[in-house]
Amino acid sequence: MIPRLIELSDYDNGYIKLLSQLTVVGNITKNDFERQIKNIMSNSNHLIYVIPDSKTNEIIASGTLLIEPKIIHEMSNVGHIEDIVVNENYRGYGLGKIMINHLTEKAKEKKCYKVILDCSEENVKFYEKCGFKSKEIEMVKYFK
Ligand code: ACO
Repeated sequence: MIPRLIELSDYDNGYIKLLSQLTVVGNITKNDFERQIKNIMSNSNHLIYVIPDSKTNEIIASGTLLIEPKIIHEMSNVGHIEDIVVNENYRGYGLGKIMINHLTEKAKEKKCYKVILDCSEENVKFYEKCGFKSKEIEMVKYFK
């Protein structure tokens, strides 16, 4: 299964339902979704990939790659991996690893010198299996 870029029609392919297995999504209309996806599609450094079920077209996995152009490291790029999720009925079949490998290859193509991500303790083993290692700590400040 090869991930493909998200499309406007993925609203009707259960994309919001999949994301709700990752975190809070809120009420998003088809219009809202299409406006945001068009906005994202206009930015070549913001790539959302999905894996559809080959029979039903339902989106069963998703992941995002953000490319950050740097001044340091000889004006190289850093890839940020975000919002990885696999439908709970399809976990354990290698889709998560396929998605991470795909995003990592895209980051290399985009001349990134590294890819980084934040995750919970319970996902550390998964990312280690994908070739990542722990480095430093994450900090956050939320705005209400
Ligand atoms: N603990 C230990 N090992 C794990 C775990 C885990 N929680 N999850 C997967 N693995 C292992 C698998 O056994 C497999 O090992 P193998 O290569 O030796 O066979 C390897 O990691 C790859 O597993 P996949 O089957 O590719 O993983 P899956 O498709 O189940 O997806 C994922 C993993 C994405 C974490 C899924 O469980 C999920 O969607 N979880 C809920 C959402 C979530 O937490 N997303 C990550 C947020 S962090 C971020 O977005 C940067």
